Amino acid sequence: MENGPMSSAPPPLLALKDERRTWLITGVAGFIGCNLLAAILKLDQRVVGLDNFSTGHRRNLDQIEVAVTPEQWRNFSFIEGDIRDPTACRSACGDADYVLHQAALGSVPRSIADPITTNQNNIDGFLNMLVAARDARGGRGVERFVYAASSSTYGDHPDLPKVEVKIGKPLSPYAVTKYVNELYAEVFARTYGLDSVGLRYFNVFGPHQDPDGAYAAVIPKWIAALMRDETVWINGDGETSRDFFYIDNAVQANLLAATTRVPEALNQVYNVAVGERTSLNDLHRLIQHELRVRRPELKLQPAEYREFRAGDVRHSLADISKARRLLGYQPSHTLAQGLKTAMDWYVKDLTTLRQQD
Ligand SMILES: NC(=O)c1ccc[n+]([C@@H]2O[C@H](COP(=O)([O-])OP(=O)(O)OC[C@H]3O[C@@H](n4cnc5c(N)ncnc54)[C@H](O)[C@@H]3O)[C@@H](O)[C@H]2O)c1
Repeated sequence: MENGPMSSAPPPLLALKDERRTWLITGVAGFIGCNLLAAILKLDQRVVGLDNFSTGHRRNLDQIEVAVTPEQWRNFSFIEGDIRDPTACRSACGDADYVLHQAALGSVPRSIADPITTNQNNIDGFLNMLVAARDARGGRGVERFVYAASSSTYGDHPDLPKVEVKIGKPLSPYAVTKYVNELYAEVFARTYGLDSVGLRYFNVFGPHQDPDGAYAAVIPKWIAALMRDETVWINGDGETSRDFFYIDNAVQANLLAATTRVPEALNQVYNVAVGERTSLNDLHRLIQHELRVRRPELKLQPAEYREFRAGDVRHSLADISKARRLLGYQPSHTLAQGLKTAMDWYVKDLTTLRQQD
């Protein structure tokens, strides 16, 4: 586990402030999508958002509205629609310069329980978006199609850290869908000249990530469970490890991928993470510590252990040198730094804001 300060992030793309472009964010009501929305509106850009609220929430959009100025919010238009519907994709792409495609059904266990729905959203929906992006702006196509790929694509490949060129066999239907996305993006570049960048996110966390539901991610799920005096379950022996990384790093990677002018950086996939590995046991200790500092009155129970989960890889760690080299990516937050900010947000959200829903 790491604690040291990170180097400061690259300049926050201030040049964008002088040039107003149109961005389409799919999955805008979800965790990563709404954080992208806030960051891009703050750069005085125009944003179109598309979401069907299958796993995202209107309250995320409401919270972003109060985080930006009224003028910035007026630059946002929202389309409630589904990427499985080609017409919705076409009208959302309209005259977008950049697409940040985040909409998909996440979660390995969800895809094991229902592979067909995952396939429809993550492959059919993705293909609809590629076609719409190719045909946007009166047939010129969008300038850049940036999409959420996934570290699950490494599958059963044993090497650590993970390097983009070495992937194994997929371990879940979800992993298949994310790999197919990469294949389609590559073919659209080759056959139609649509420039894309795939971002293989490792384990992202931060404000607005949903703590509830059967398929919630581990960090918000554990924070909420500890605050509600519910059992924290650890799947396996707790020595399973992940490259957990803070949302601001994902936002930075998206902005860099959309705006890079480096030809070699295009039509590539990149690991996006911090490049540090943390075990579930260490993560649990860290979350308990941060919560104890903020809410000393809580009685924090030890975690309980149960079976390993099907489809999960044992260890995951990213080599982020390709993103550093070609995109200029510099993670701004370590896990420990990001967790402090996320914890402040969750403590407030779960104790006050959520009561008003
Ligand atoms: N969070 C992570 O750690 C992580 C890791 C790897 C990859 N990813 C990928 O990043 C992307 C965003 O993930 P997230 O964590 O923000 O998840 P999320 O569930 O919070 O957000 C996904 C959003 O997409 C929307 N959506 C889903 N299907 C849709 C459809 N058919 N039409 C329109 N909107 C639809 C949902 O309503 C939701 O708002 C996904 O593609 C996910 O696979 C996330």
